[in-house]
This record gives sequence, structure tokens and C-alpha cells, in this order.
Amino acid sequence: MNYIGVDLGTSAVKLMLMKADGTIVKVVSEEYPVSYPHPGWSEQNPLDWYEAVMKGIKELTADTDKKEIAGIGAGGHMHGLVVLDENDEVIRPCILWNDGRTIEETDYLNNDIGRDKLSKYVGNIAFAGFTAPKILWMKKHERENFDRIKKIMLPKDYINYRLTGVHSTDYSDASGMLLLDVAHKCWSKEMLDICGIDESVMPKLYESYEPVGELKAEIAAELGLEKNVKVVAGAGDNAAAAVGTGTVGEGECNISVGTSGTIFISSGEFRVDSNNVLHAFDHADGKFHLMGCMLSAASCKKWWFEDILKTDDYAGEEGRIGSLGENQVFFLPYLMGERSPHNDPTARGAFIGMSMDTTREEMSLAVLEGIMFGLRDSLEVARGLGLKIERSKICGGGSRGVLSKKLAASIMNLKIDVIENEQGPALGGAMLAAVGCGDYENVEAAAKAIVKVVETIEPDPELVGKYEEKYRKFKSFYPLLKGNF
Ligand code: XUL
Repeated sequence: MNYIGVDLGTSAVKLMLMKADGTIVKVVSEEYPVSYPHPGWSEQNPLDWYEAVMKGIKELTADTDKKEIAGIGAGGHMHGLVVLDENDEVIRPCILWNDGRTIEETDYLNNDIGRDKLSKYVGNIAFAGFTAPKILWMKKHERENFDRIKKIMLPKDYINYRLTGVHSTDYSDASGMLLLDVAHKCWSKEMLDICGIDESVMPKLYESYEPVGELKAEIAAELGLEKNVKVVAGAGDNAAAAVGTGTVGEGECNISVGTSGTIFISSGEFRVDSNNVLHAFDHADGKFHLMGCMLSAASCKKWWFEDILKTDDYAGEEGRIGSLGENQVFFLPYLMGERSPHNDPTARGAFIGMSMDTTREEMSLAVLEGIMFGLRDSLEVARGLGLKIERSKICGGGSRGVLSKKLAASIMNLKIDVIENEQGPALGGAMLAAVGCGDYENVEAAAKAIVKVVETIEPDPELVGKYEEKYRKFKSFYPLLKGNF
């Protein structure tokens, strides 16, 4: 049978058709806008996602035997607050994962309620992009909208709801709401009370690979698919990407360089770092993971190349960059504030260390290095927990090309395992659907059968030494600038 994997991303949805053995038949994508109604805010219209997904499925399946399609699985950008009224109509645009409007609410949760209590209730503290502070923001600033809420869900759950009519979510994505008791996999009564919402507004919880329902008759008819196509609960995009790179079970690592940048460490047991710097979430394989998330990764590259240098020739720009490890220019990648490790929505980007002879190439390299230094910040916290992380998979548009992979290897002192068919969350979503439809016994078995490492990029010992020193400098800049942005 065949499976559709959906990667509901921040700038576009990518859809992939996969055979049960992992062969990728076709990939399509559809874009949609993000709106920034105030500096530091970001929103999207859930109806745009739905239209893009429907259009994408039609295009994806146009020249294929539709009867062969057995299941659909989605990975979606996390933490977004989607609110529906009593008629299941969207009340307001979704407030996205990189929206920084909830400074007051995050502060209230972490300092008035208290980090210890939050960590006890849900295994995590509040970060501005998480869902619970957004609910508190709505309660204070949009009381009329808040009073109309009959269902709360996350972005990919809205797609699953439109396809099946079922209000569902999965544990990996729900972990990022700050409403789920992650260790015990149930909604936290305490956190629901703090946010002033009733458990009846929360969607039903599933494992990522569990089917939540089948296509609604009218949807199946519109798409020309069979009515018994199963839709699995899916996962947060990082957990789905981890499945798609085979980062499952104990102690595996995946780096995702998408709009956001994440370090994802799969774990057989529930773990938390003592300062809650890393997110301690459930994983799509039924177990757990630790994750650090920087808010702007590939988006720094996009901003620098496309908006500032006015070019989309990334390969050409990167090809002109000279020797590594010598750059005197540093870039702080905080264009949308920063989540891990600073938890500071007011942080901003900066170039530091230019002189009269600084070149365009050095500034480009500084941007690429800044992204990897930002990721290393989270990796350091994980290593500080005693976790031995010596190798990692890598995925996401920002990791394409050999330069980013080399930088990742030498800046983080990691062996980078490059996988065949890197398709991130879309592949993970399709794999979850294949598990839910019985083609594989569990997620680990699917990963073992489908994901293949084709090359390993080793850290260069000389560069590791040079970058060690540069990382120390990079780390010293944010504390100096903090509060002045
Ligand atoms: C993870 C996070 C981002 C989004 C968008 O915590 O906020 O990675 O999921 O990709």
C-alpha cells in the first residue's frame, strides 16, 4: 500500500507519497503566507493550511492509483494556538510557535506560579511560543474570543480534524502546549485550571501512529480517495522529522535546520534538565525526547541571502566562502528573539567584529556559523546532563549543501550521518501512517527498514579546536547585550 506524509511547515506544506517499503514516489509543496501584525508577533490562517493540503493531495495523487493509498500522517509546526467555536469555526488566526507576544504571561507562569510547580505538573517551564501562555494572553486581551472557545488544538490537528471530523492530538505535539503532564501522558488538571479552561475543550490524546479516524465521505469524494483511508494522529514536526531520520529509541540525535533549528535527542525514559532549558517531551515512537529549539535557523540564512543580499543563489554565495575557522565576524541569530537556551523574546540579531576589510563572504559565513553556535548552545545543555552525544543525523532546508554539514560537524564536534532521501517530517508522517495501517509493527521497525545512512561527515580536529575558541566568544556576547535590544 502507499502512504501520504504531510509536513505542515511555517512557510509551506510539503506532501510526499511513499510506498510501504519507503520508496518515495512523489513530493509536492504549496506555500501560504505568515502575517506579522506587530513586531515579534506571527500568525497564520488555518484555512490557508487546509486549502493548501487539499490542493497538494490532489496534485500528489493525480497520476497514481488512488486505491493504493491506505493512510495519511502529518507532522506540523508545534505550539500554535488554534481555537474553534461551537460550530467548529476558527475564531481567530493561529498564533504561531515563534510569536513573542506573551512576555507577561510567560513571566507570570514561570515566576508567580513558579518553575518548580510547572515542572512538577508538566515537566517543562513556560516559553513565549508555548500554547498555554497564548491562552492566557487571549483571556486577557481578547476576552470575547476566549469566551467563545469550544475546542483548542494544534496546527496539524486542525488538518486531521478537517479530514476526519475527529478532534485529536498526539502526545509529542501536545507536550509543547504546557498543558500535558508529559511523564504520565494525560492533561494536567492544574495547568488547565491555571489557564481557565475545561478539559472538554481539549482534543483526545493518541500515540502518533494510532489512527484517529478515516476520511469523511465528502473529503474522500473530493480527493478521489477511498473512504477507508486512515488518518493517524501524526506528530509535532520535530518528532516527525526524527522518525524520518531514524532518530528513535535510546540516545539518538537529530539536528533540524528548518525555519527553526532544533537538537532532538530520543530517550527511552522521561528525563528533564535541572533548569528546564531543554524541552522534555513525548516522542512519536511512544517514548520520550529532549529538545532545544532556536527560533531562527534557516530563516537567518533566508533573511541574509534573499532579503539583504537580494540573491537566491545560496550555492553560489556559499561556494565563494573561503577557509573555515578564521572568521573574525560573529552573528547572533536572534531575529525573532530566542527560545533555547535564553528564553528571551526581546533578544535580537547582531553582527559583531567587522572591520574595514570585512567581506560579504565573511558575513555570510558568520550567519552560517551563528546558526550552528546557536544549536550548540542546546547541545551543551544535553551533554551537561551526562548524555554522550557523538553523532547526529541532520535534516531541513538549512542543512542542504556540504558547507552547513561540515560546520555542524566541526562546531559541535559531532559525526554527521547523512541519510538517503532526507525528507524530514513528511517522511516521518508517512512512516507513522504505515505503522498505523499495520505495515510495520512499531515506529522503530519502520525506521530500521526505511532509513539508510549513506555518508558520514567527520569533524575536522583542527577546526574543532578553532571553533571551540570561537564558540566561547560567541557565548560571551548575548549576556553583554541582553537588556539592550
Ligand atoms: C519546536 C518549535 C519549532 C516549530 C516549527 O519547539 O517551536 O521547531 O515546531 O518548526
